[in-house]
Amino acid sequence: MVSSDDFVLPQEYSLHFGYPSVTDYLDLRSATGLSPKTPSQAAAISTGSWFGCYITFDTGHGSEIIGMGRVIGDGGWYFHIADMAVHPRHQKKGLGDIVLKVLLQRINQEAPNDGKPYISLFADEAGKRLYFKNGFVEAAPGQLGMVLKS
Ligand SMILES: CC(C)(COP(=O)(O)OP(=O)(O)OC[C@H]1O[C@@H](n2cnc3c(N)ncnc32)[C@H](O)[C@@H]1OP(=O)(O)O)[C@@H](O)C(=O)NCCC(=O)NCCS
Repeated sequence: MVSSDDFVLPQEYSLHFGYPSVTDYLDLRSATGLSPKTPSQAAAISTGSWFGCYITFDTGHGSEIIGMGRVIGDGGWYFHIADMAVHPRHQKKGLGDIVLKVLLQRINQEAPNDGKPYISLFADEAGKRLYFKNGFVEAAPGQLGMVLKS
């Protein structure tokens, strides 16, 4: 079983399994330029996700949540990575890479080993290189990602 101690983070940073509070989640989405969500929408991340992790930064006077990622899935074969976010002040230190690797390790450890997990995500421009480096490929032309028009 993967443990948060398996990953070495830069000093002052700590890795945790689980999810940020609703307030921290909404603040982190806002700080990273992700689309705003409501508190009721955010309340479901801790109950509706399959696995998540987040990173805290020790400010010297306390700690604040500066990064996260989560997996929505059935635990069997279908896993979708969502909410990859690292606060702009803490980007480009390898933290996003650690979050992604933690999520992937958990999936690979927990998913049944008699078949391959299907792991998907929608990549924003900022995350593309990170995802390519970690083995993701574009689904097109074989498949086309789609969202329902709102
Ligand atoms: C995408 C995102 C999560 C990446 O987080 P991050 O912590 O900056 O990611 P990393 O630090 O692991 O990698 C980013 C870059 O920093 C580089 N880097 C890592 N450690 C470094 C260091 N110590 N010094 C300098 N550069 C470093 C990496 O090589 C990588 O470079 P590349 O983009 O040229 O390949 C972050 O940019 C983000 O939150 N963006 C806004 C929200 C968003 O768009 N999320 C994605 C939704 S799909």
